Amino acid sequence: MKSKRILMTFFSLIVIASIALAGCTGGGSSATGKVKIGLSFSDFATERWKNEEKLMRDLLEKKGYEVISQEANHDVKLQNDQIDNMVSQGVKGLIVVAEDGDAAVTSVDKAADAGVKVIAYDRLIKTSKIAAYLSFDNVEVGRQQAMGVMTALGLPGSTTWTKANPAKVVQLAGSPTDNNATLFTKGQTEVLKPYIDSGVIKIVAQQGIDNWDPANALKAMENILSAQNNKIDAVVASNDGTALGALQAMKAQGLAGKVPISGQDATADGSNSIVKGELTVSIMKDIRLLSPLATDTMDKLIQGQPVDGMKNFSLADLTVDPSKTGDVPCVFLKVQQVNKDNVFDLVVKSGFQAYDDVYRDIPEAQRPAKP
Ligand code: GAL
Repeated sequence: MKSKRILMTFFSLIVIASIALAGCTGGGSSATGKVKIGLSFSDFATERWKNEEKLMRDLLEKKGYEVISQEANHDVKLQNDQIDNMVSQGVKGLIVVAEDGDAAVTSVDKAADAGVKVIAYDRLIKTSKIAAYLSFDNVEVGRQQAMGVMTALGLPGSTTWTKANPAKVVQLAGSPTDNNATLFTKGQTEVLKPYIDSGVIKIVAQQGIDNWDPANALKAMENILSAQNNKIDAVVASNDGTALGALQAMKAQGLAGKVPISGQDATADGSNSIVKGELTVSIMKDIRLLSPLATDTMDKLIQGQPVDGMKNFSLADLTVDPSKTGDVPCVFLKVQQVNKDNVFDLVVKSGFQAYDDVYRDIPEAQRPAKP
């Protein structure tokens, strides 16, 4: 009997201890006592996001954090629910790739008010309550895209294009809910404007592509081609995915490889299309630099240590919207234009993409030697 009572007391102590332990998990550390960090992605449709999920998860776990990560399949409400849920699970930090830079403010402000450190990763979340905005120089992305296409048209300097015979240019912007799309278009327009003003080029169509979806880009380009009787001379598109979608429509009209077109992200398929002479340029944004920057920054924020190298930018400038107030600390990494002359060195030799992916369908004799 006595031993039974001791046993009962012992077991009830265990139960109480585990409830106590569970109680404290709300405070940012899991049952394992590890601090929790949440990764929230808009989608995994674009090649890079899955790679960055893995990169950041591995880096954070190596630092001793427990990682929760979720993707929202382009669903704005779902992403907010996922963020709220991660906060209720006790995360101390959140790294967010927002589907919608305005809509995400609701949950991100709540998280920040609850003491969670929030990093806007690659895409701006339009609130000064974020702890940091870490990305690439997105305006320069746009400049390099437009410069690559203008160079392919022989501009500056070409005598083909004149006021009487302007080059007909199509501009495909990114997703209207992604602040990056605004910045890419800003950079593109900076380069295109002098040519527009001098009359040697004419923008015959301008369209944002919802969700950055290649299928939407295909449809958009089909409509533009029929409206323009296939008479277009160049396309300034905003990422590889949408450019390859547009190229499908152009291919059906025999324009692929003849009409220059830009992309972004130096994806495997985009780099392969450059080697095939269809995509003219892409933009290399080395995620192997951005992901560690984000996890190191998060670690410092959690530890309450100073974060070097950040510079404050106004939300008004970052959103190209003067009505926005407040500043955010930012870091913007360099970008590089990828074209058929440097794709091997920049993308393959650097290990950013695999040789076999980039030279897929290219006859052996036309391939450079494997690095
Ligand atoms: C942008 C990002 C690009 C591109 C696009 C589609 O925000 O900067 O790299 O991939 O989203 O996901």
